[in-house]
Amino acid sequence: TKTSMQENSVHPVQKKFYIETYGCQMNFADSEIVNAILLEKGMNQVTEAELADIILVNTCSIRENAETKVWNRLKEFRGLKAQNKSLTVGVLGCMAERIKDQIIEEEQLVDIVVGPDAYRDIPRLIEEVEDGRKAVNVLLSLEETYADIAPVRTTGNGVSAFVSIMRGCDNMCSFCVVPFTRGRERSRPLESILNEIRQLSDQGYKEVTLLGQNVNSYKDGNHTFSTLMDKASLLDPEMRFRFSSPHPKDFPDELLYLIAERPNLCNYIHIPAQAGSDSMLERMRRPYTRDQYLQLIEKMKGIIPGLSLSTDIIAGFCGETEEEHQQTLSLMREVEYDLAYMFAYSERERTLAYRKFEDDVPEEVKKRRLSEIISQQMSIQHRRNHDEIGQRHVVLVEGTSKRSEQQLSGRTDTNKIAVFDRKEFEKGDYVEVEITGATSATLIAKPIAKTSLGAYYSAVLEA
Ligand code: 5AD
Ligand code: SF4
Repeated sequence: TKTSMQENSVHPVQKKFYIETYGCQMNFADSEIVNAILLEKGMNQVTEAELADIILVNTCSIRENAETKVWNRLKEFRGLKAQNKSLTVGVLGCMAERIKDQIIEEEQLVDIVVGPDAYRDIPRLIEEVEDGRKAVNVLLSLEETYADIAPVRTTGNGVSAFVSIMRGCDNMCSFCVVPFTRGRERSRPLESILNEIRQLSDQGYKEVTLLGQNVNSYKDGNHTFSTLMDKASLLDPEMRFRFSSPHPKDFPDELLYLIAERPNLCNYIHIPAQAGSDSMLERMRRPYTRDQYLQLIEKMKGIIPGLSLSTDIIAGFCGETEEEHQQTLSLMREVEYDLAYMFAYSERERTLAYRKFEDDVPEEVKKRRLSEIISQQMSIQHRRNHDEIGQRHVVLVEGTSKRSEQQLSGRTDTNKIAVFDRKEFEKGDYVEVEITGATSATLIAKPIAKTSLGAYYSAVLEA
């Protein structure tokens, strides 16, 4: 209990927690907030579930298979609970609200359920469980941004970090459960974001990805997402910035010019299309047409030379015809994305699609369409990566390559993974490389020299 922890100073009972994270980057950023909250309470973090007194699973609801993975994991933890009666298991994040009753009463799998806006309450909920109760807080908030909590990044590479700039989502795409799991959209104060970036810069981080469900609608007084990017990029010219995700409906031109002009704003934009036909976009409640989307892409490519683009695509949404599927394929050929996240539609309770449409595309058809989308995308990526052979890039080294100790791995400004011989280079270095080979997922490179963003770009300007 609390008192024995404070009084027993010789052998303090320090609870050990373990946290496992599923889903999007936002969820990983949230787990770093939870780390901070629990470490601040004097708990210790462990990296294996078997060593923990408290196991927390930060969950995702976006598709059914994301939830299935979590259910299976919770069943494994039930085994651990059988061996260790005092083990506490908690579910955090997007699954919390929807399955709180099921989790606690029917399955007896978990003791604590905490929604995305209630993480400050976790220490209290843990105490409640110690008193023998189940503990739940799934209240969503209109204000919570955890602005004052400095995330503790225990699992990252020490080079690149995620910084959350807003929470929730007001877009209401008809397929998406996020507005229901994460609540209303709200922006974190500009100063607290800039402070976090300053701290990361002081700690030696070289790359920051600003995160929100719809970053273009960031707002703090008069400050917009473009002002935020502007101010962030000036804090540390040797720190790179990315962001995820903007919405095609309102991408600001001024941000495109800013990206083109600033060496440390990466020439890479993730711009989810979801589908390629007007009829499908309308059913999805995506407020743009195919033409408007393609015009935006043309503008982006025109303003930012060498721009790399990625997207999200859903196959087999409600009522999808073969013609609509063909239009998605043709949109992807027209844009030529460098990367795409491609999914089969998975019906989610509470969404507009669940209430209004029928999930009527047969499973085999969904699968076939998805695999056509994926294989076309793989061949586009293969060709585009091959076209890079002979070109030079600046790679930020993230660590040792998975395949060989002798090789380093990092990302180009355009967000492509590049591997090259280690030589004298280290994690956190910017290395100028020449591309010598490619697959659909990786660039093989030859290192030229260590560089800095400023040096590289002034050389480019002179040439
Ligand atoms: N089924 C399949 N994919 C979905 N996404 C969101 N909701 C669903 C769903 N119900 C995809 C979208 C989104 C990405 C994060 O996940 O493409 O952009
Ligand atoms: Fe999953 Fe969406 Fe929640 Fe992220 S916001 S964890 S993708 S449901």
